[in-house]
Amino acid sequence: MNIKWNADKYTKDFSFVHQYGNDVAELIDCERRSTVIDLGCGNGALTHQLKSKGFNVIGVDDSEELLCIARSNYPDIDFIKADATDFAIEKAVDAVFSNAVFHWIDKEKQSSMLSCVYNTLKDNGQFVFEFGGYGNNALIHEGLKDAFQEYGYSYEMPFYFPTIGEYASLAEQAGFQVRYAALFSRPTELKGENGLRDWIDMFVKAPFHLVADPEDAESIKTLAAQNLKPVLCRKGKWFADYVRIRMKAYKP
Ligand code: BEZ
Repeated sequence: MNIKWNADKYTKDFSFVHQYGNDVAELIDCERRSTVIDLGCGNGALTHQLKSKGFNVIGVDDSEELLCIARSNYPDIDFIKADATDFAIEKAVDAVFSNAVFHWIDKEKQSSMLSCVYNTLKDNGQFVFEFGGYGNNALIHEGLKDAFQEYGYSYEMPFYFPTIGEYASLAEQAGFQVRYAALFSRPTELKGENGLRDWIDMFVKAPFHLVADPEDAESIKTLAAQNLKPVLCRKGKWFADYVRIRMKAYKP
């Protein structure tokens, strides 16, 4: 996950990311004072929610910008800077939780991440997570691809959105027992009249590194938003076509 976050804007305008994560956290079935890691904790909002449920929490993230906000907002929580695909925690924990993170990790690195999580858990420890599943933002990425092509560039979708079958197999190969899995659509309202344009600015970075002319980059974003307006904007409100994959697995 190699992205430089606009941490303030992320915290202000994309709070739905952690708000939706509250539902995922409900799947954690541990006693109060159990230790739970929030993997890819970002600004720490969900780590804080987990703490409010009575868990001892540790936030892990690789973004200095987001950790800075997390530490300043929640000084009583332990936050560790580490890469999700290469981390170790001294004392085994009861659960690892993650929301909206794993699609940022390349497919080739998913197994390393799953092994790190496995090694971090106690026996019978729980692994509860949700991220972008197969078909996530398909309309948005199709729209971006068309706009890139219009300006003579090619578009490579920079995220990993697996099916349940693919991801459950990866988790099983890492040693987990998958006991619950779901893939579901979750149209998500975006903030403001430039909702989609702002979303692209916030989240779609890598493909634009290949666009040499900054004016072309701006035009591509404008064209994509314009072309997607009839399908993703209703009564002035933008909705992103999110699809979630959600799982609960155990270390046997
Ligand atoms: C997601 O949460 O599914 C997501 C957000 C931004 C970019 C890609 C996926």
